[in-house]
Amino acid sequence: MGCGEIVRTAHLPGYERYGQRVVGVYDVRPEATAGIREQFGVETVFGELDELLGHPEIEIVDVATHPDVRPALVRQALAAGKHVLAQKPFAPDLATARKLVEEGERSGLTVAVNQNGRWAPAWRAATKLIEQGVIGDVVAVTHLYHHNYRFTMGTVFDEIEHLVLYDYSVHWFDITRCWLEGKTATAVRAREYRTPNQPVESSAPWGAWAAIDYEDGSSALIRGVGSAETSRPRKLFWVHGSEGTIRGAVLGSGPVPGEEELELERGGTTTRFQLDGSWHTNGFAGAMGELVTAIVEKREPYNSARHNLLSLELTLAACLSAEDDGRPVALEREQALAGGDR
Ligand SMILES: NC(=O)c1ccc[n+]([C@@H]2O[C@H](COP(=O)([O-])OP(=O)(O)OC[C@H]3O[C@@H](n4cnc5c(N)ncnc54)[C@H](O)[C@@H]3O)[C@@H](O)[C@H]2O)c1
Repeated sequence: MGCGEIVRTAHLPGYERYGQRVVGVYDVRPEATAGIREQFGVETVFGELDELLGHPEIEIVDVATHPDVRPALVRQALAAGKHVLAQKPFAPDLATARKLVEEGERSGLTVAVNQNGRWAPAWRAATKLIEQGVIGDVVAVTHLYHHNYRFTMGTVFDEIEHLVLYDYSVHWFDITRCWLEGKTATAVRAREYRTPNQPVESSAPWGAWAAIDYEDGSSALIRGVGSAETSRPRKLFWVHGSEGTIRGAVLGSGPVPGEEELELERGGTTTRFQLDGSWHTNGFAGAMGELVTAIVEKREPYNSARHNLLSLELTLAACLSAEDDGRPVALEREQALAGGDR
């Protein structure tokens, strides 16, 4: 559902590459689906939403619209008996997100969130190293991402409130909480600001940072340079642990040459990892692959909507803080619900 920019550049290429069958697509704007069958081997372009929802061979609905219409579409898909992969940010607010989680669980269907960054090769490999305890206890997570939001000018993205913290940085809040899994976040502080070289015609502020404090003294910092002029717009990260350090870079969208990077320093030795693929394509295939696998194995997917509640709570807390010039916003609700974290 929804065949915009990201579906053409990442969802469908990812599914095609890994042999995921796409029964059909639907978009409210018929022009959005032009040429999509020929380009990606999609079987059907539906003229009406109900045709998609009523199709007996469709098991999973991939909701790839903007978040404003997402909750209603998720509900319709569940009512039609379909599992759901919902684009991020999952919902406009926590109450809606919680209701969707409960509706999915009541219906016995699986709702997952397309936090495809979890399968960006360097972030994924870092997650596996952390889970294996290779760097000991994670004490600090730091991100610095180069980005330029010029592409949002004249699009609906420029009208989204808290574009950078809510719509974009949700991936960074999400991966950070994965790396600090099991710890209790206490507060989030954040700011958004217009950068000096940002065109006056753009509405959304392009610069942002957010800091997350944890009960045990661990901390995280996310800094987005929103008007970077660089031919290497990598998203750098460092994970400091009690026994070692992981550092690396993921590549975002666009035909960026080169590979994602990851190195591990421990006990005086630095190991560089050879990584294949990139966030766009592999990450998107990973998010769908995890959902498909979880359905077959009858288990909760790693990217379940329930697991996403804390990611969304951190993101929304950052937005709230930014509205009040960086005031610390306390966290408790989703962690309490999830029994500590997950
Ligand atoms: N890495 C990522 O995960 C990533 C990257 C980019 C965008 N996104 C997210 O994906 C979503 C879409 O982004 P985009 O860049 O493709 O936007 P877009 O504006 O290019 O596309 C959105 C599409 O949804 C369609 N649509 C709107 N209402 C609909 C409805 N009721 N039913 C069916 N179709 C409907 C629109 O016609 C449009 O074609 C956003 O939430 C964005 O944040 C995620």
